[in-house]
Amino acid sequence: MQEAIDRLRAEGLSRIAQADSPDALESVRVGLLGRKGELTGLLRGLKDVSDDQRPAAGAALNQLKLELTAALENRTGDLAGAGAGSMDLDLTLPGRAPVQLGTAHPLLSVLEEICDIFYGMGYDRGDGPEVELDYYNFTALNFPDDHPARDIQDTFFLNEDMLLRTQTSPVQVRTMERVQPPLAYVFPGRVYRNENADASHSSEFYQIEGLRVDRNISLVDLRETVNAFIASFFGGERQTRFRPHFFPFTEPSVEVDMECVKCSGKGCGVCGQTGWLEIMGAGMVHPNVFKAAGYPDDAYTGFAFGMGIDRIAMLKYGIDDIRLLYENDLRFLNQFRGVL
Ligand code: PHE
Repeated sequence: MQEAIDRLRAEGLSRIAQADSPDALESVRVGLLGRKGELTGLLRGLKDVSDDQRPAAGAALNQLKLELTAALENRTGDLAGAGAGSMDLDLTLPGRAPVQLGTAHPLLSVLEEICDIFYGMGYDRGDGPEVELDYYNFTALNFPDDHPARDIQDTFFLNEDMLLRTQTSPVQVRTMERVQPPLAYVFPGRVYRNENADASHSSEFYQIEGLRVDRNISLVDLRETVNAFIASFFGGERQTRFRPHFFPFTEPSVEVDMECVKCSGKGCGVCGQTGWLEIMGAGMVHPNVFKAAGYPDDAYTGFAFGMGIDRIAMLKYGIDDIRLLYENDLRFLNQFRGVL
């Protein structure tokens, strides 16, 4: 038996080495390991070997099978490698599946689109920290010490002085500390509020703040800027209206509504049958904010506005649940492939 095994090893390995095409190699494989192959024949012959020699013969046959299999695999690899240099392989054939490229997240695309519109109006872009001092998020923005927005229910406090910013407005003060008017900036970024998540609330979301300061800036400038932005972003002439509101850091303060994107003012589910959609908070910079920034008394006026990027993206693309923007479900994200 041992002799037969040694002979088959020598012959088998040499036949494998001599096979010069995948087809030739396949017939060598069948001849050795196939159902009627030589190795298979030896394995069948095991039953005729005496009891005391059978275990050693079986082990030797298994070992041979492993060796032959490995040699066949190697030779398959060699023949494929050689083929790559021949004309059988067309390296210019396109791949089978279309290559999936990544795309920007819809929130990021909308953020950049909004910034681009303001760059067109001469605005710069600024930035500030998400982990913010209570001073910039509230005190410098003229929030009284007992203002409810400071309440632990709305704000994630990190300690007595530090918090996760609840709005992008603190970047107004940080910027005015560094930059003298005239200035015009947008400040996009992430903000945090201690909210329970539902279709329209998330504990993290995005805002974009605008700030323009110069001599003799008026509410009319704010109105023209807002209207130009809305016409550019949502397209067409849309009615807007300013409703009186309150923010500690602007005086007067307004909320800006625009004609509903869905029903154009007739009233529908998106606008709660009012025909109007609230789109941003805004107002004239409060003198106490200029004071906190270190600007001289009465030298400048300015306007500021802040809007939720998530909300704008949802309105523009008819997304009805803010959580979709944070779950990164590819079935959702893929709908924006090539759209944005
Ligand atoms: N910071 C305000 C908010 O988060 C929005 C705002 C910004 C209002 C600038 C007026 C001026 O609701």
